[in-house]
Amino acid sequence: MSSARFVLLSLCSALLLQATLGFDPLSHFCSSSENFTAGSPYESNLNKLTSFLYTKTPSSGFGLGSIRQYQDQVYGLALCRGDTSPSDCKACVADAGAEIRRRCPRNKGAIIWYDNCMIKYLDTDFFGQIDNANKFYMWNVNNVSYPEAFNGRVRGLLTGLVEEAYTVPKLYATGEMGLEDKTKLYGLVQCTRDLSATECKECLEGAIGELPSCCDGKEGGRVVGGSCNFGYEIYPFVNV
Ligand SMILES: *[C@@H]1O[C@H](CO)[C@@H](O)[C@H](O)[C@H]1NC(C)=O
Ligand SMILES: *[C@@H]1O[C@H](CO)[C@@H](O)[C@H](O)[C@H]1NC(C)=O
Repeated sequence: MSSARFVLLSLCSALLLQATLGFDPLSHFCSSSENFTAGSPYESNLNKLTSFLYTKTPSSGFGLGSIRQYQDQVYGLALCRGDTSPSDCKACVADAGAEIRRRCPRNKGAIIWYDNCMIKYLDTDFFGQIDNANKFYMWNVNNVSYPEAFNGRVRGLLTGLVEEAYTVPKLYATGEMGLEDKTKLYGLVQCTRDLSATECKECLEGAIGELPSCCDGKEGGRVVGGSCNFGYEIYPFVNV
């Protein structure tokens, strides 16, 4: 009981801080399937899951759990960006857990992304399945002057990072590449750790395949999904 109250207080104070600093969600989706009712076992399970992910995620940057009571079961995970500190991860998961409930108050499933983390939950077991349904693009509005060659470099850097990411436990890799004009290209790729290594590779290759739709000739871009994401820019955006 006291630990539940502590988590709630922490959620509130973290939220105030985040609101002041102006960290907004990048995107979210509420699942179009069933709703739960107030006071139902599902709501109680979801509250427990949110608290669990908040406690579990910061130390390793990934948390996964399922809570079952009566016939109702909720499955969820939280992932922090690989370069996020445990304290920033914790603040982000707190923020995301509260905000997703405001945005999708009765949906049994939902997903929300921030710069530093994402949370997803569903009333069915989605672990280890590549999420092809939830996805969005972001891009830097600036165009490069030599798009064909630049697109090739972006693809080359990201493909190399995938080869690294899927072989390490964190399913995450970052790197940089020098460009002809002496500027540098920086990239990041990451998967949720419910995926196997080969699923991670498949997910990221699929995302990279969307480069022409997302970020053709753009100085920076991201494809962000429920199971994996990448980003690139011509300035260093990864925390080291
Ligand atoms: C769930 O709730 C939303 C918002 O109240 C409503 O628009 C939607 O029709 C509901 N869906 C179902 C399946 O009841
Ligand atoms: C980039 O190119 C697109 C398509 O040609 C154009 O609409 C857009 O205005 C350009 N962006 C900038 C910042 O110049």
